Parts: sequence; structure tokens; C-alpha cells
Amino acid sequence: MSGFGGMTPAERLEHVPAIEDLSRLAKRRMPHFAWEYLDSGTGFEAAIRRNRDCLDQVLFKPRGLQGEIRPELSTELFGRKYDLPFGMAPVGMTGLMWPGAELMLARSARRTNIPYCLSTVACETPEDVGRTAGENGWFQLYTFADWAINEDLLKRAGDSGFSVLVITVDLPAPSMRERQRRAGLRVPPKITPQFIANVLARPAWALATRKRGKPAFRMLEKYLGGEDMRDLPKFLADQQVGTLYRWKDLARFRKLWKGPIVIKGLLDTEDARCAVEEGMDGIVVSNHGGRQFDGAPASISVLPEIAETVGGKTAIVFDSGVRTGLDVLRALALGADFVLAGRPYLYGAAAHGEAGADHVSHILATDLANNMVQLGVSRLSQLRGLAVA
Ligand SMILES: Cc1cc2nc3c(=O)[nH]c(=O)nc-3n(C[C@H](O)[C@H](O)[C@H](O)COP(=O)(O)O)c2cc1C
Repeated sequence: MSGFGGMTPAERLEHVPAIEDLSRLAKRRMPHFAWEYLDSGTGFEAAIRRNRDCLDQVLFKPRGLQGEIRPELSTELFGRKYDLPFGMAPVGMTGLMWPGAELMLARSARRTNIPYCLSTVACETPEDVGRTAGENGWFQLYTFADWAINEDLLKRAGDSGFSVLVITVDLPAPSMRERQRRAGLRVPPKITPQFIANVLARPAWALATRKRGKPAFRMLEKYLGGEDMRDLPKFLADQQVGTLYRWKDLARFRKLWKGPIVIKGLLDTEDARCAVEEGMDGIVVSNHGGRQFDGAPASISVLPEIAETVGGKTAIVFDSGVRTGLDVLRALALGADFVLAGRPYLYGAAAHGEAGADHVSHILATDLANNMVQLGVSRLSQLRGLAVA
């Protein structure tokens, strides 16, 4: 079943109460190679498990008799009011996981009034997504060695209405992603018997892909200089995509982007300090959802020391492993100003289309509000420092 067939949000919650329900259905609807791309980490996937284990270890002592508790979930970030303290993290090749998903997520984010961050390796153009997301659109940049491309991408993003620039710095080289390799996923996709068998096993995906057209890196097509998509891996390698060498390189982006700039993928206090020194408006404390470096600490375990060092000097955004409203609450309590979720929104879109993305926000918001009531707290700002372990 897809799209929830006219159910109210409350009815949806009765049938699909948690993100894991969406992920189970998404797995049944996506081709194996696309599922493995979305769901996997790298190495033994210890960093993914660590994210979960360490989030579960953040505990609170509920207080009773605190008066009537009416949780207020809206929050301000970068001078803009969002209805919820969380948003959608950038996820590359979203359109491979579900055809047209970038536009679905952008519409959902705008309707829910939360941010949607579009990845550099998107299957849609910034022009189309920017128009759809409006001011809720954030733009994520993997840097290119050729500065003309960085400049052009940022001009396109700015002209298309994206309000925040997110520069990701935790992808200095591709990681192993063994599950993805075993599943036969190549960039661009290679049509092998395994690939065809995967697609035939998922007729809803195949049909949606037929309608939307073959997944392609529509954002980057223009820079391939008329070359075939088959040349993409060489292009990405030649461009050292995602590699920035020095903190002072960030100053160049200040001249290219008028709005707030956020550095994504920091786990070290010293790096957070450098981001502040370079005048960055925000940082994302993230281990890339455990996809890049299996020896990384859980993002939540380094959040308190980073918040203690740079809190109040730059906005602190948190991601990696958030699956419940309680996880959002944990991050806010340990010093985050805002939270992002990556995989959950793709599980939602693959399981139930645009309504599935809406439902992810609904699950997280309902659980966040419920847990605030359990704790006896009405305002997000009261969460800071409440964790006992
Ligand atoms: C399939 C996939 C693709 C991703 N692609 C990008 C990307 O293009 N740019 C980026 O900055 N982060 C990317 N990320 C990382 C996410 O932005 C985010 O840090 C991560 O998903 C958070 O963990 P979660 O999935 O457990 O919520 C990707 C994550 C996934 C799962």
C-alpha cells in the first residue's frame, strides 16, 4: 500500500507508529541496490550501531506535578521560524531511491515548514527543487576543484531561492560501503542481469521510474561538458569532489554566498573552533550517518563537548541516527539548536510517497511532544542540561 489512502495523520499513526515501520515497507518497495545504497554504512557498520547505542544511553529523570504541559515545538534558526526543531538532511541520489523523491521531500518540507537540504549529487536540478522548496530549501555543496563550478552552482542555488548553504567536509575520499558494492550499484547505474532482476522484483519502483525517466545527476549534467554520464566517475575523481584542503578556503565561499553558511560533518572540538574562527554561521555535528568512517565516535557522544566549546557562537545542528522524537529531544538537551534526519525521510518517501515524508515529520513531532510531557517540559529551551547520563 502506498499513499495512506485518505487516512488522517492520527489514523496513519495507528497503522504506522514508528520510522522502523516505514523502513520495513520501503525495503519491500525499493530495488535491492537502491535499498543497500540508502540503508548501509561502511565497514562492519559499527558507527551506525554506535549512533543508536549512544543515543539510547542519554537518559532523563521525568518530573511530576509540573502543571499543565503544552509542548511548543516551533523554533528559530538563521533568522527564520520553523514549525519543528528538525529538518531533512541532504541525501545524494535521492531520485534513485524513489523516482522524483527530491521534489516530494521539497513539497513536504514546505508544507510542514521545516528545512529540506538538497544534495549536490541530486537527481533534480536546483532550479526545479528551489522553486518547489521556497525559503525552506537549503543547499548542500560538495566542493569541486574547479572553482568555476562552485561559483556556478552557488549562483544557480541562490537564484533558485535556497536560503542556507551547507558545505560538507567529511567526505575527503569515497568510503568502502561494502554492502553497496556487493549489491552491484555502480555510478551511473550499470545494466547487468542482477540490476534487471532487482528492478523486475519491484514493479511500483519500475513504473515510477518509467514515468520520471532514468535516474541521472541532473544537477551536474551541465558540467560534464556534453560528455556521457558514463564519464561521471572520472569527472568526480578529477574534480576531487568534497575535498577541501584548508580552513581558510572557506573565506572564498563568503564572497559567493550572501546567506548563512553551515559546515557539515564535524566531530572534533578543535574543528568546531576553526569553523567559528572562519565566521561560519552554523556547524553540523555529524558522522555522516555512519557511512564514511567506521572508527568515528557516535555524533551524540561528542555533541556536549562541542556545544560547551562553541555553543552560542555558532548554531549547532546535529545529525546521525535520529529515529524518534526522543532522539531529537536528546540532541537538544545535549546542546544542539536544531536536528536533521537523513534516511528516515527516504524510508517515508519510498514507503508512502509524499504522504510518507509528511508522516516522518508527524511521527518525530508527536513523539517529541509526548516525551516533553513525560519530562514535564513545555519549551524546547528548558531541555538544555536535563540529561542525567
Ligand atoms: C543514502 C545517503 C546519501 C547521503 N548523501 C549525502 C550527501 O549527498 N551530502 C551530504 O552532505 N550528506 C549525505 N548523507 C549524510 C546525511 O546528510 C546525514 O548526515 C545522515 O544521513 C544522517 O544520518 P541518518 O541517516 O541516520 O539520519 C547521505 C546519507 C545517506 C543515508
